[in-house]
Amino acid sequence: MGQPWDNAWDRIKACERRTLTELFAADGDRVGKLSARLEWGDEDEPIGALFDWSKTHLDDALLDAFEALAEARDFAGKRAALLAGERVNVTEDRAAEHTAQRGTGADASVEEADALHQRMHILVDAIHRGTFGEIRHLIHIGIGGSALGPKLAIDALRREGSLVDVHVVSNIDGLALEDAFERCNPAETLIAVASKTFTTIETMTNAASALDWLKQHGIADPYGRVVALTANPDKAVEWGVDETRVLPFPETVGGRYSLWSSIGFPIALGLGWHVFEDMLRGARAVDAHFAGTEGRANLPLRAAFADRYYANVGGCQTRGVFAYDERLRLFPDYLQQLEMESNGKRVTADGAPVSGSTAPITWGGVGTDAQHAVFQLLHQGTVEAPLDFIASVTSGDTLDPAHHRILLMNCFAQGAALMAGQKSEDPARAYPGDRPSATILCDDINAATLGALIAFHEHRTFANAVLMGINPFDQFGVELGKAIANKIDAGGARFDASTEALIAAADLSQS
Ligand code: F6P
Repeated sequence: MGQPWDNAWDRIKACERRTLTELFAADGDRVGKLSARLEWGDEDEPIGALFDWSKTHLDDALLDAFEALAEARDFAGKRAALLAGERVNVTEDRAAEHTAQRGTGADASVEEADALHQRMHILVDAIHRGTFGEIRHLIHIGIGGSALGPKLAIDALRREGSLVDVHVVSNIDGLALEDAFERCNPAETLIAVASKTFTTIETMTNAASALDWLKQHGIADPYGRVVALTANPDKAVEWGVDETRVLPFPETVGGRYSLWSSIGFPIALGLGWHVFEDMLRGARAVDAHFAGTEGRANLPLRAAFADRYYANVGGCQTRGVFAYDERLRLFPDYLQQLEMESNGKRVTADGAPVSGSTAPITWGGVGTDAQHAVFQLLHQGTVEAPLDFIASVTSGDTLDPAHHRILLMNCFAQGAALMAGQKSEDPARAYPGDRPSATILCDDINAATLGALIAFHEHRTFANAVLMGINPFDQFGVELGKAIANKIDAGGARFDASTEALIAAADLSQS
């Protein structure tokens, strides 16, 4: 039996694909229709970004058809359920309340988030005031969603001044932790153990080694130097962290959405409480737009229309994100987890096989470096990958303005070249053109902008999931590998011949 959204998909697929050049020629107001400004500043400092989707193949007919798809998928109802704290994560039977952490959600959840933030603020202030002696370094230990957000924020915003030097360590490879040790004086170092579950093997092993390091360097009470950031406070206390230094967050905040909770502790400690608050403020402004804007005017939903078009109609298996700004060089890494762990699924929320592609592979890099490495394929290769460019009108450096001017000229030139292409008598020198890109041109990169950019992508990810009918909030696909690693550790289990040969070659049976 047909589903209510099948008609919408038939309409989408029936839309004629005109080239981007034809689309611009046919509609003099194309830029006006497909780009929009979104703001997250306050009265004193209006700041925002231009979201330009005009170099994608979206046109009026496609937007009408995608709006019909959103309606058939009850986008408005699903969005309301998300923001009301209903149990939208159906496979784990719980809500997904990351927006409540920044003030958008059910009253009780927003109140709880405020109280937990208050607790974190008090601890941050106490550390800054010297309650733990002089603290100049924080080693933040976590992985996946417990690391990527803090790492991105610290790297992006540290130039505005830092109070405590933060080192984010995620990998179990001991080299990662050793690198951090080399840069920290143990007498002036705190350890943050960030783990939603407080059971992740990489994090708990690294945390134990960090305690050993403190002890070996004469810290009599290493546990007294640990702050735990977790949704499992009992486990943290059981592990040895004093209750007063456990900063909990609710179970309903997913790992890859947890930057807004106590997982943001290193941002507040390292860069200042106001920086963390500004990030929340930027995100909250995008929440308001997402919650209160309908159809194509809703920018995360509009971006999802383009994402679905290229994945489901264009057959594109990847989406590239290029930040033309050093401050955002880790943004593609952050988006990889957000998008691929959320929407890399093969069944719908009710367990039926999906009928088309779900999340493409998110990848990317920083401009202009990427131009000299991977853009050859993007211009002349045989695969089509929709791209996003992210840039800032205001530069972050104090050098000759030529630097920023060349950076932006190159960013805009790439989008133009991909779209226009170029004919040539010589096939090796011809560019096919008609390759799509979108551009987010920020006024400036600051904490509010970073919060807004992340929230925009969270909502874009959710909108994609709604259009596909999948649950973006579970991640069962990461479990099997972990279980097999545990079996290898326990010994005695049989595996395929190749895996057994590798285990033998590395002598892993000798733990
Ligand atoms: O393995 C995937 C994952 O569960 C992510 O979803 C999560 O962000 C990461 O591991 C870390 O988990 P935890 O915060 O519980 O240590």
